[in-house]
Amino acid sequence: MRTYTTNAQLQSALRAHRDEGRRIAFVPTMGNLHEGHLDLVRKARQLGDIVVVSIFVNPLQFGPNEDLDAYPRTLAADKEKLFAEGVQVLFTPRVEDIYPQGMEAQTIVHVPELGDTLCGSSRPGHFDGVTTVVSKLFNIVAPDVAVFGEKDFQQLSIVRRMVRDLCVPVEIVGVSTSRDRDGLALSSRNGYLTREQRRIAPVLHQTLNSCREAIACGFDNFLQLESHARMKLLQAGFDPDYFAIRDAVTLRAVTEDTEEIAILAAARLGKTRLIDNVRLALNPVSDWGMLAGG
Ligand code: PAF
Repeated sequence: MRTYTTNAQLQSALRAHRDEGRRIAFVPTMGNLHEGHLDLVRKARQLGDIVVVSIFVNPLQFGPNEDLDAYPRTLAADKEKLFAEGVQVLFTPRVEDIYPQGMEAQTIVHVPELGDTLCGSSRPGHFDGVTTVVSKLFNIVAPDVAVFGEKDFQQLSIVRRMVRDLCVPVEIVGVSTSRDRDGLALSSRNGYLTREQRRIAPVLHQTLNSCREAIACGFDNFLQLESHARMKLLQAGFDPDYFAIRDAVTLRAVTEDTEEIAILAAARLGKTRLIDNVRLALNPVSDWGMLAGG
């Protein structure tokens, strides 16, 4: 595995691979790699001949009171894991390589609507930071395909929209969420949880699942389901940010045209903000008949 820090080194190495006709699969990360990231890498290996992983803790996507400084940086351990997975290229740019003019002067990529709701409203500027750095990384790496986790479902939807709107020539592939045995979605932020908080944390996924089951059984009062879920989270010890039943494509309210529902939640346990989601495909004829009470 070769590690590159500068754009120029990386680009000249990748040019050689591209000239040989190799397909480049890219996994952007912020490091502190866990099994969830390694699942993305495994998917990338199936999709490309050369797997490029980037590790860059992107300051532009952290708000002023967020955990940028505390965000776990574990480069040596990450390298070992990537090497063991057969990754050929690691890109570890420095902040000054990605933002040479500083972050204030940086052109921003903003995806409206999808980026303004849910985590976008509770973390203003977060998705602009994500789409800006992902655009830059796409332009530097120029991958044929890029792999993202479905745990950050809103992020995945926004990246897909950005790529479509800006005609970026890359295929985006989503990978289903990796979970611990008790259902907790794997996340670098799980490491912040105390033992007691870790015990409570799976309630987030359980609550999402119960909501999905209720909808699958025909319960169609979404406002009531959302407020019941928020109550359950509060009772368990969370401070819920949102619990929302949305159309999985538009991330807006569910309508008669909805083909798939996404149930998304963000909630704090102490200082740690956890997110998760589950989805439910609707059979257009029978499910809407049932949800409409028919
Ligand atoms: O999902 C992440 O780890 C980050 O948001 C990403 C896509 C690497 C951009 O910094």
